[in-house]
Amino acid sequence: MALTRTELSTRARAAVGEIGPVTDFFASLRELDGRDDVLDLTFGNPHEMPLDGLVRAISSHTEPRSVDWFAYKSNENEPREVISTALTTELGLDFAPEDVALTQGAFGAIALALRLVGDAGDEAILPTPGWFCYAPMLRLVDMAPVKVPLDPQTYDLDLAAIERAITPRTRVVVVNSPANPTGRVYPRQQLESLADLLESASVRIGRRVWLLSDEPYRRIRFDGVPFVSPAACYPWTLVDYSYGKVLLAPGQRLGYLALSPLLPTPERDALRAALVPVQLSMGWGFPDAIMQYSVADLEDVSIDLVELTRKRDRMLGALRSAGYRVTRPEGTFYLWGDAPGGDAARFVAALAERDVYVMPGTLFERPQHFRISLTATMGTIERALPAFDDVGARLLAGR
Ligand SMILES: Cc1ncc(COP(=O)(O)O)c(C=O)c1O
Repeated sequence: MALTRTELSTRARAAVGEIGPVTDFFASLRELDGRDDVLDLTFGNPHEMPLDGLVRAISSHTEPRSVDWFAYKSNENEPREVISTALTTELGLDFAPEDVALTQGAFGAIALALRLVGDAGDEAILPTPGWFCYAPMLRLVDMAPVKVPLDPQTYDLDLAAIERAITPRTRVVVVNSPANPTGRVYPRQQLESLADLLESASVRIGRRVWLLSDEPYRRIRFDGVPFVSPAACYPWTLVDYSYGKVLLAPGQRLGYLALSPLLPTPERDALRAALVPVQLSMGWGFPDAIMQYSVADLEDVSIDLVELTRKRDRMLGALRSAGYRVTRPEGTFYLWGDAPGGDAARFVAALAERDVYVMPGTLFERPQHFRISLTATMGTIERALPAFDDVGARLLAGR
């Protein structure tokens, strides 16, 4: 008898389909490995040696100090205490250690959040353009992404559009501030309006809509722009964070999911009690022992934000003088702009001919835009600028 099923699960196929353009792009960059003439402005990866503070923190914990140094680690007390104290100061909310689940970066925390509150068939609202991994992660738990455009001029949340997108199946709204790829940091008043909207929508549909606040770029902001976490505005908020961005070391997996201290006690207790069992059921979703030991030393370590600001200003200024329309980011290490000539694929290909690589907006479902990562060195940025000038001039002139 003929076999009717493919080897892959329906969920896996849906996730593969959803992330396909990104993995294809990633694979195409692999062909450049080993070439040192390439000016890579694509992913938010490090281009210089790791931060001293990170290296010291890790090195000082590799030598075992007890028999259980490398035993199974779950949500260990010391890092939870350090994180809840830091969060209390940073967000002005009273976090307890029990509100913090230690995860493999923001990725692990988002996966945990979806498993804690999402069911198969539930919908999650994703403001777009936004990070390309939410949708495949949703597919893998049989949830449906519902993409809702941000305001095309300001990249603010379009509250009316979010309201229209809410259905009886809506379970989660994802807010990413500072936002990848736009660099927007949403102000308090906008988050308060969103909270009001979600409160009345929850009553209307007869079940709670959760807010997942994806904050891995929370500490990477420019010009003193204040940060407000949605957790301070809407009690049913789960906050995820990663150390991978601020340390520019995404290969060392460390992050957390935190429950808003404003959650009513019954919900807070139920979620607290579910953290470890669900993390375990996900396949041991905790960070490695050495990263857990390092939390206390890593809290204050950061990439150089002054240098990052210099790179932002240099790139933004140069591109604008060359006639590009580029958004001024308030946070993150990305620049988001309109592809000159209106065709991202053509623009990206023209730059690649000059050995300059940027990310096409097609990966964010915006085929007329592009994203630059400012994690490249200032030297790389300087060397790339003549290509931006030439290609921009040609495409803007319609040639
Ligand atoms: C918006 C956003 N959320 C989450 C993540 C995942 O972060 P990490 O790899 O540190 O877990 C990223 C990484 O690029 C991101 O841009």
